[in-house]
Amino acid sequence: MFSRRKFLSRSALGSMSLALGSSCNAKENQTSVPEDGIFTPKVIATWKPNIKATEAAWKVIEQGGKAIDAVEQGVRVPEADPSDMSVGYGGRPDRDGKVTLDACIMDETGNCGSVCFLQNIKHPISVARKVMDKTPHVILGGQGALEFALSEGFEKENLMTEESTKQWQEWLKEKKYEPIINIENHDTIGMLALDKNGDLSGACTTSGLAYKMHGRVGDSPIIGAGLFVDNEVGAATATGMGEFVLKTLGSFLVVELMRQGRTPQEACEEAVMRIVKKHNYQDFQIGYLAMNKKGEVGAYCIHPGFNYAQHQNSTAEIFDSDSYVKK
Ligand code: GLY
Repeated sequence: MFSRRKFLSRSALGSMSLALGSSCNAKENQTSVPEDGIFTPKVIATWKPNIKATEAAWKVIEQGGKAIDAVEQGVRVPEADPSDMSVGYGGRPDRDGKVTLDACIMDETGNCGSVCFLQNIKHPISVARKVMDKTPHVILGGQGALEFALSEGFEKENLMTEESTKQWQEWLKEKKYEPIINIENHDTIGMLALDKNGDLSGACTTSGLAYKMHGRVGDSPIIGAGLFVDNEVGAATATGMGEFVLKTLGSFLVVELMRQGRTPQEACEEAVMRIVKKHNYQDFQIGYLAMNKKGEVGAYCIHPGFNYAQHQNSTAEIFDSDSYVKK
C-alpha cells in the first residue's frame, strides 16, 4: 500500500542519490544509480529451462539475501539436473568420454573465483566460490582444482549418465566436431542478480562444448569472457561458442559499453556485432545477457532461438532475445 511515510523515505533516498551523483561523471551516473534511488531486485539467467534456477535464486533475494548467494544457489539447480546436458551432472563429455566442467562467480566487490577443466565434482560453481573465498587466487584448473575441492569436502562422483554415455557412443561412430546451435534450447547457464541492497553478482557454469578436445577450456570460467560484474555499472554473461566470446572478451566489453552510457540492450548488440564483423558466424551461436544497476536488461544473439528467464517481484517470465540473423 502506498503511504506518505514510504513516499517521504523514497524522496529522501532520491535526493541522496542525486547528491551522491553530483560528484560523479554524469554519464557514469546515468547507469550507476536508479533515478529514484530504489533498486529493483531481479534475477536473470540464460535459457528458458533455467527458470527453475532463477526461482531458486529469487528465494534467496526475496528473503533479503545477497546476490552472490543467490547466483550460487541458482546455478546449482541445473548443475545437479541430469536432464540438463550442457551443465554439471549429466553434461555431455569431451571426445574421450570425460565430463570436464568450467565455472566462475563474481561478487559486488569485484572478487571472483573460477575453476576450469574440473572433473568428477557435481557443483563446480561452489568450488569456484571457495576459490574466491578461501584462496588468494582467481582460477584453479584440472587436478589442482579437484584436489582443492576434495580438501574442501566435495565428493568425487561419476558425472556420466546413461543418456550422456549413449549419446557419446553414438557420436563416436562419426566423430564429427560440430557446434550445435541452441542445442535443446539451452547451453551454458549464466546468471545475474541484483539484490535488495542494489548489489550485483553473477555466476556462470557449463560442461562446455560437447565432444570438445580433451583439455579444452571455454569462455565460462574466464572472468571478462563468460561473466563480468562491475557493481558501479552492471553485469553481463555469455552463452554459446566460447572461443568467440574469448576472442572478444565479450562480457567485459558489454559492461564497459554500459559504463560509456549504452543501455544493456545496446551493449549486447554491439558485442555481438564485434563477432559478426570479424568471424564466419553462420555455424555457431553466441548470446549475451546483461543487466545494469537500474535492473534494466538486455539480450542479443547471432541466430534466433536464444532466450532467458527472469524472476522479479516473485513473477517468473521468459523472454526471447532479438537476433542479428532474422528468422
Ligand atoms: N560457452 C560455453 C563454452 O563454450 O564452453
